[in-house]
Amino acid sequence: MAHQSDLIAEDILAYLKAQEEKGMLRFITCGSVDDGKSTLIGRLLWDSKLVFEDQLAALEVDSKKVGTQGEEIDYALLLDGLQAEREQGITIDVAYRFFSTDKRKFIVADTPGHEQYTRNMVTGASTAGVAVILVDARKGVLTQTRRHSFLVSLVGIRKIILAINKMDLVDYDAERYETICDEYREFAKDLGFEEIACIPISALKGDNVIERTDVTSWYDGPTLMEYLETVQVSDRQTQLPFRLPVQWVNRPNLDFRGFSGTIASGTVRPGDEVIVPASGQKSHVERIVTMDGDLDEAMAGQAVTVTLTDEIDISRGDLLASPEARPSYADQFEAHLVWMHEETLLPGRSYLLKCGATTVPAQISDLKYKINVNTLIREPGKTLDLNEIGVCNLTLSKSISFDPYKENRGTGNFVLIDRMTNATVGAGMIDFPLRRATNIHWQSIDIDKKSRAELKGQKPRVLWFTGLSGAGKSTIANMVEKKLHSLGKHSYLLDGDNVRHGLNRDLGFTDADRVENIRRVAEVSKLMVDAGLVVLVSFISPFRSERRMARELFESGEFVEVYVNTPIEVCEERDVKGLYKKARSGELKNFTGIDSAYEAPESAEIVVDSSSQPAEEIAEEIVRQLFG
Ligand code: ADX
Repeated sequence: MAHQSDLIAEDILAYLKAQEEKGMLRFITCGSVDDGKSTLIGRLLWDSKLVFEDQLAALEVDSKKVGTQGEEIDYALLLDGLQAEREQGITIDVAYRFFSTDKRKFIVADTPGHEQYTRNMVTGASTAGVAVILVDARKGVLTQTRRHSFLVSLVGIRKIILAINKMDLVDYDAERYETICDEYREFAKDLGFEEIACIPISALKGDNVIERTDVTSWYDGPTLMEYLETVQVSDRQTQLPFRLPVQWVNRPNLDFRGFSGTIASGTVRPGDEVIVPASGQKSHVERIVTMDGDLDEAMAGQAVTVTLTDEIDISRGDLLASPEARPSYADQFEAHLVWMHEETLLPGRSYLLKCGATTVPAQISDLKYKINVNTLIREPGKTLDLNEIGVCNLTLSKSISFDPYKENRGTGNFVLIDRMTNATVGAGMIDFPLRRATNIHWQSIDIDKKSRAELKGQKPRVLWFTGLSGAGKSTIANMVEKKLHSLGKHSYLLDGDNVRHGLNRDLGFTDADRVENIRRVAEVSKLMVDAGLVVLVSFISPFRSERRMARELFESGEFVEVYVNTPIEVCEERDVKGLYKKARSGELKNFTGIDSAYEAPESAEIVVDSSSQPAEEIAEEIVRQLFG
């Protein structure tokens, strides 16, 4: 390996110690292939000499083969992690590179400059302290420069290096440099950056990247490397109020009860007072236990176990915090959400929200607007697609502790996870809690479900009929209700077509509308079950996720899923309302079973088929099975 430090040869131990004590800076580079981004990173790696000898040999061969620099070494080829980049000249994913100088260690996140890769950029930037935004001196501030700046500001980066590259191609013109700096500063003034360092460079020639060049004698600022080596970013998290998300409660025996996790922000010492926002209970830190013994102090980034002086209720997912600066505790908040999945966001669907050490079911209750990442203009929208960004309200199934992201990057971010596939589908930054939620309290009512059910002499429950249009759901549900009526049961039939005439009049048949349709009808049936009724729901309810959400609203045994599994050929043959015909001809869009999905139940309590058994008989069996 080729190294720049003589210490390696002279005193390897001293070298290693110096390496260990060096600070670490994470930064992200933003720019497109054309801006010379790969060349710049290649040069940083090359000139810091942390490139393996055999890699160098390969590079020389490759440069001659596919390089764009003639006989010279093509530094862009150093970033050859991805075959596609070499062949198409584009970068397609986030790549993390490690290099170091005598002063600092660096991790650089290299992400693609293309519009569709918002997801990658947000991922790469979320852990970075500084962003290097590249512009081509000939082109100046472009749409993509604005997009990159917006995204890095969104994830909380406050220090920007505007690397004005290809200065050699504009004859190192000071005026050109000034114009671009001014234009950029003007544009970025609302993005909340603390510092913008404009540096004129030529990544290709090496001007002002590591070494200063005399061709820009008019520039007296630092070189890119000098700036990276000296910029202060690291202690921001440490200076914030103390926050420790409890990953697990460590209780090896009755004498020890510790709370383990990685400190998200601030510092802590034995004797410090802490609060658990969920209960409002306070205590004091007794010990800070680590693998290497007890500590007198621990700070952001350290994994610790703390013990407290009092026995208070704390469980996994709780946040230990400084009582002088309490975090928010709420079950609703506004957030900026970046959608990261090919499957569209469905407001109303129940996702899992993971924030710190807590995971809770959550819904997007209101998508307020989308932000066009190119123009930064707000646009209306009902859903988010891959790489889109929106501002929305989220409603959680229970309150959690958090801080606004702008105040604390460690406790203000979250991801959304699809409950069926476990895929991460979105990443969010919390703007502020919605107070409304905390000011509404559940009223306790003296007459409860049990007493209402007793008065009616029945066990309240929901019979949830799902299946294709024309499967016979409503026919069977109607017969079941008549039988229940004659048995003296108090019931109510909620039918899709009927409810869509009133309560759900505003909804159509897009996936998002169907999700909301089911959410509302599930909530209504919950109220009706609470009223002591037997509720029959007859909705296509095509998605597993929403049927599961409905099921979770009820106590065990209350929710009975009846899958009317009549084959689609039969439903289409019947075509009672003539809708299949319309759907086949293309006149009707998003028709279930034709061009909109039906996800069959996997474990319905009852499965019936109205093509192989008369509806009357099915209804009779259901009643016998459930009420006999
Ligand atoms: S759901 O998918 O959101 O659960 P719901 O049960 O409320 O659907 O409504 C289904 C009824 O609406 C069908 O029985 C049919 O009469 C009618 N309908 C109209 N357009 C469509 C469509 N595109 N897909 C399915 N059903 C439709």
